[in-house]
Amino acid sequence: MGKESIGQKWDAKHYDAQIGYVSKLGTGLIELLNPQAGERIIDLGCGTGDLAEQIRKRGVFCTGMDYSPEMIEAAQEKYPEGSFRVANAEEFRLQDGEEEYDAVFSNAALHWMKHPEGVIRSVGHALRPGGRFVAEFGGSGNVCAIVNALTRELAARGIDWQSRFPWYFPSVGQYTPLLEQGGFEVRYAELYDRPTPLGSGENGLNNWLQAFAGPLLKGTEPEMQQKIVENCASALRPTLYRNGEWVADYRRLRIVAVKK
Ligand code: BEZ
Repeated sequence: MGKESIGQKWDAKHYDAQIGYVSKLGTGLIELLNPQAGERIIDLGCGTGDLAEQIRKRGVFCTGMDYSPEMIEAAQEKYPEGSFRVANAEEFRLQDGEEEYDAVFSNAALHWMKHPEGVIRSVGHALRPGGRFVAEFGGSGNVCAIVNALTRELAARGIDWQSRFPWYFPSVGQYTPLLEQGGFEVRYAELYDRPTPLGSGENGLNNWLQAFAGPLLKGTEPEMQQKIVENCASALRPTLYRNGEWVADYRRLRIVAVKK
């Protein structure tokens, strides 16, 4: 996860219990990565390590990296055989003597990193020539209805949400030139809608906001937070609540790029 997530607290237990769909939905991206036995792969923004472990089980040496020490601690505890490290994706470099990697993989993490040039530079340094960067994250228009409802509530209370907006949701047209300028050849880029059931029935939206909207709600009194969440739920119910479940309007940017 990125360092710019001001006020964002990562609670590994809540993440696994309530937001476990993040890793489950990332499984398809592993197929696009197509890891081969013997390869060295970084999982950037690995959270509590579920996808890094799936990659490792394919006979890969996988290093899971995350900016949150709590997430890395939880990952190492869950998967003692795995290799995990706290790292800031926007500026990490390989350690002394560490071999370059064959691929960098990242699921649902890059939208927390507001300095994409720094991330791309770090990834470029970590890869061997011909190494691949395979990533999926929130793209332009991601969670648009939720963002609109939330920012409307914040603006109505005079809260300057722009300065604390924690996410980076680029379009294909914005992100692929950064990859090219960073020394990558873009082989694949797609922006697609992926409506995402939030689970937990009526509590799904509340859990999502609790897990992810901390930076936007930071500094507001608990009663005000509750009112904001209630008002968001009322505004969003007609479009995002279906058959007893909240379905978030996720839109993903998926890329495959190769280091020249
Ligand atoms: C996402 O996975 O698209 C996402 C998660 C949390 C906040 C914003 C977006």
